[in-house]
Amino acid sequence: TLRLPCRVDRLYRVASLEELQQVHATLIDEKLDYCVMGGGSNLVLPENLALSVIQYTSTTLEFQPLGDGIWQVRAEAGLSWDEFVEQCVARGLRGIENLSLIPGTVGAAPVQNIGAYGVELGDVLEYVEAYDFSGQCLRRFSKDECQFAYRDSMFKQQPLRFCIVAVVLRLSLDAPLTLKYGELNALKEDPSVDVHAVRQRVIEVRRAKLPDPASTPNAGSFFKNPVIPHEDFIALKEHFPDVVHYILPGGMVKLAAGWLIDKAGWKGYRDGPVGVHDKQALVLVNHGGAEQAMLLNLAARIQSSIRERFLVELEIEPQIWPLLDKA
Ligand code: EPU
Repeated sequence: TLRLPCRVDRLYRVASLEELQQVHATLIDEKLDYCVMGGGSNLVLPENLALSVIQYTSTTLEFQPLGDGIWQVRAEAGLSWDEFVEQCVARGLRGIENLSLIPGTVGAAPVQNIGAYGVELGDVLEYVEAYDFSGQCLRRFSKDECQFAYRDSMFKQQPLRFCIVAVVLRLSLDAPLTLKYGELNALKEDPSVDVHAVRQRVIEVRRAKLPDPASTPNAGSFFKNPVIPHEDFIALKEHFPDVVHYILPGGMVKLAAGWLIDKAGWKGYRDGPVGVHDKQALVLVNHGGAEQAMLLNLAARIQSSIRERFLVELEIEPQIWPLLDKA
């Protein structure tokens, strides 16, 4: 979605576990490096990548009633995330409506534990089915085993080890709606508010605030919201009393990176083909003709300006390819 041109050695689009196993065997035989890609909406790609890319394309969606208005929903990795949300909402199922319109595929969703408007995938996930390239077998990972955290998971820590094949969620027809996030607050006053209305509102808010990658190439938030110790926050607040923040359970404090970048004067900044979005400073955009190095250079300049001004470290959120296994 950043529209960075990228040439890879081979692209394998696999439609089943059997095909995935065959492709993996070929890659091992030929001693070729490989990576798994979902929809490509959270990637910062270089011009040339000397590796093969695997995409799992199967999109089967299954709904199974568990009784008491609770449903188990299994979606295969190749399905578009928002199509998945739409199908669940159409059945009146609650749990992922706040995650409407997030680009990418179902298979990519657990990797960075997608989150928006007070909900994270980890809140409703039951388990993930993933092919383990090391063990050469299909494995099932419970929510705990996924080690979800803010924009993080075990899959993000070991990006070269697994290919997610399916995601299984537990959704409910009458779970409480999550309306605590500022922009959804107004819906609380309407007693007839339902899951359809929440999805509609989330779509409106996202369309108003976030650039559409189809017209303004971007990868969503380019940085994570930093989490800092309470004593650092107190010191920061003394200098910047209006700093946007959220106190986390346990005492750490999450800052709004968009606010920091905006306050440091970057909003709407443009340097040739790359820039900072003019409505949401957390989003870097490709105005046309950008390359990976230009975006990373702009990101590094923003990081050092935030470090200098606020003594806060910003961490890049999308994946920079080629990937390094951190585990
Ligand atoms: N803000 C500014 N200036 C800006 C941008 C934001 O002052 O240019 C302030 C806002 O006024 C607000 C605060 O910063 O008080 C937070 O902004 P916003 O509500 O837009 O959310 P965010 O923290 O910037 C996060 C996620 C988004 C997600 C929204 C809604 C991260 C890194 N980003 O953004 O996720 O949609 O909350 O829940 O956590 C993504 O990951 O790609 C993404 C878009």
